[in-house]
Amino acid sequence: MTPTLYRAAFMHTPSSPFTDADALHVEEDGGLLVNGGVIVQSGDFAGLRAAHPEAAVHDLHGGVLLPGFIDTHVHYPQVRVIGGLGRPLLDWLEHVTLPEEARLADPAYARAVAKDFLHGLRCNGTTTALVFGSHFKGAMDLFFEEAAQTGLRTVAGLVVSDRMLRPELHTTPDLAYSEGRALIERWHGVGRARYAVTPRFSLSASEGILDACAALVSEYPDVHFTSHINENVREVQTVRELFPGRLDYLDTYDRAGLLGRRSVLAHNIHTTDRELGQMAAHHCTAAHCPCSNSALGSGPFPLKRHLAAGVHVALGTDVGGGTGFSLLKEGLQAYFMQQLLGEDGLPLTPAHLLYLCTRAGAEALDMHGQIGDFSAGKAFDAVWLCPPQGSTLEAILDHASSPSETLAALFAGGTQADVAQVWVGGGEVYARPGLSSSESVPKQSPVLAS
Ligand code: GUN
Ligand code: ZN
Repeated sequence: MTPTLYRAAFMHTPSSPFTDADALHVEEDGGLLVNGGVIVQSGDFAGLRAAHPEAAVHDLHGGVLLPGFIDTHVHYPQVRVIGGLGRPLLDWLEHVTLPEEARLADPAYARAVAKDFLHGLRCNGTTTALVFGSHFKGAMDLFFEEAAQTGLRTVAGLVVSDRMLRPELHTTPDLAYSEGRALIERWHGVGRARYAVTPRFSLSASEGILDACAALVSEYPDVHFTSHINENVREVQTVRELFPGRLDYLDTYDRAGLLGRRSVLAHNIHTTDRELGQMAAHHCTAAHCPCSNSALGSGPFPLKRHLAAGVHVALGTDVGGGTGFSLLKEGLQAYFMQQLLGEDGLPLTPAHLLYLCTRAGAEALDMHGQIGDFSAGKAFDAVWLCPPQGSTLEAILDHASSPSETLAALFAGGTQADVAQVWVGGGEVYARPGLSSSESVPKQSPVLAS
């Protein structure tokens, strides 16, 4: 196979800027040699060109190439209710979200929502997502079918609950187990799909449901686990009352045997030092969703305390509690939130934001051997951000005096309109309408798993 040499200004974070001051790697005239969807060599363009005259050069002139974004918390059934502002979590669930989630009982509706959702991910440059699914097994089969068509990497699962939602969204421990098992057998590890065992949150899950989830995690140790935790003070108080025998919210998951290296818990705002210590001991990730936390008034995220305790943190959009699919916007809101926290906040640099949107997500999903940065051996999952001609962002980038300034401007001003092209495993999964064919690579099959 003839390799492709992508020529672009690129940036990536192969290590964490929270522990490595030189984590941001920049190639202003860079080359990524890609063969069979995998980056074979990564470096400066001239050197790679001289060493590989046989490669087909693909010039991504203008803008910046970044590793594909990784969203570690986003709800598939909620795409059509983004923007339900003005309500705290439990009120928003009851009046905005759960009525919409009930509509996914209809397979035609669920398929249309899955298409909207997957389109939202890829046109924002998201190439991998840990997806909070639907309460309906049929809607999850449809989701995985549609996801396979797009070529995106998805980790997703049936959401299970047996109390305090709406009757049509409730299941039983036996069904949670048997439907979860059937979905794992059918989809986990098939193409680019993986499975996540997903109780909605302890408020809506009895011990029986959590035990059914734990049975799946123990039977299939390489599946993922995800849920919500410590998002809202009323929620935390209710969970305390529902589980009088547990030490705290985290303990409801821990005592069931659900926590491990592949566990991602969304929010964790109103957390305790004991919980943070236990999350670190289990190597869990906290998915920080700053737009959602702001929109629902859930509270400011204690990033400093997480990092001090050794808890890994990645970013999630939390659509539809969040305000959209853009991880650029999420990075900016994370930055704002830490600024507003004053002494309790952690000042974030553009390198931190890039790491949180890419490599940190790959680590959360235990996929950092395969994705998250542009090192040799990684899959070519990439987003080319190239502002449209005449846009303000183009003018800013034209006059940026350092890569760090360029990156800051992309987070501050970048939107869906600046996403020009997106690849997963070397296959194009999105090209901006109107992108000229000379700018666009020949399509490879997006269903090739690499
Ligand atoms: N907790 C339980 N369900 C949800 C949800 O759908 N969104 C958010 N943000 N929190 C939740
Ligand atoms: Zn959520």
